[in-house]
Amino acid sequence: MTKDPYLAQAYTPIEKGIEKVEEVIRREIRIEGISESKIFFSGKRLRAAAVLFSSGNFPGDREDVRNIAASVELIHAASLVHDDVVDEAKYRRDDESLSFRYGNTIAVLAGDFLYNQALKLIHGVKRFDIMGTLLESVSEMIIGELNEEIYPPKLRAKEEIYLEIIGLKTASLFRGAFVSGGLLGDGNKDTINVLKRTGQAFGMAYQIIDDCEDLFKDDDGDILQEKITLPLIHLFNQNPSYLKDYLERDIEELKFEVVKSGGFTYALNKARKYIDLGKSYIKELEDNEVRIALLNFFNYLIKKAERAEREAISATSDQVN
Ligand code: FPP
Ligand code: MG
Repeated sequence: MTKDPYLAQAYTPIEKGIEKVEEVIRREIRIEGISESKIFFSGKRLRAAAVLFSSGNFPGDREDVRNIAASVELIHAASLVHDDVVDEAKYRRDDESLSFRYGNTIAVLAGDFLYNQALKLIHGVKRFDIMGTLLESVSEMIIGELNEEIYPPKLRAKEEIYLEIIGLKTASLFRGAFVSGGLLGDGNKDTINVLKRTGQAFGMAYQIIDDCEDLFKDDDGDILQEKITLPLIHLFNQNPSYLKDYLERDIEELKFEVVKSGGFTYALNKARKYIDLGKSYIKELEDNEVRIALLNFFNYLIKKAERAEREAISATSDQVN
């Protein structure tokens, strides 16, 4: 079961379902020598959970539901393997990235394989609406990742551009997972529309909080990878001179300045706005177990934001003392 204690409550109804999805993933990832890598089996399976919740088939006893749930996780894994090539990242989930351990050639091919395994699962479900939804998500993910590479720092330092990029590279797959689940559950047009907005809001909040957490991680984090995230953007807005030379500054001091500028709180409050928005959308759904489960899923994000805040306070109070 999930190692994140904050997810335990939300995951209670889908515990069995996630186990079944895990079996499908294990069956589909079989790359000689590397399929046991931690990267594939240490994730939280949030996208699979979104499919299970939105479909209403919590135990995953329907094959189409578990296969689509597994496919979104495979797409996610493929994108991380490729992202680590793009970012030249050494670490992924407390382990070496595949590209660092085996080189870019192997990592690119492994990512291609995972993506194709996902497509095979989706193809097997024989639902053009679901296939179309997920293909649209992947197109957006690629454009988001490309834009992040192509846009100059001055552009990426704008809040609306940051939001556009995370909307494409992260929120699009969450949206695809929520919508696919709804389609599997034969949701009507209104339900699908609600799930679309809900998934996008979940993804936005998730990525903003993740970017906040990244600030206080010890590995090759966003600043060293020259990624410009919302807390940093807030510092630039407060004090534009930082944009010119932030990469030359001492990284710990820079993080401290980000917190001091209110950047951390600003970003977390932005995430909370997306959480509130998502919850308001869910309340448009019929009052049943899907609605309750989705609201609990959003409560996980609230706890994640609280934890990020606590970590920032303790990291910066060390600095003051
Ligand atoms: C992580 O971003 C990366 C993504 C959310 C999406 C990456 C998308 C692609 C590589 C294109 C899609 C490719 C396939 C094969 C489907 P990050 O670097 O900000 O986060 P991190 O800190 O977790 O690395
Ligand atoms: Mg990355």
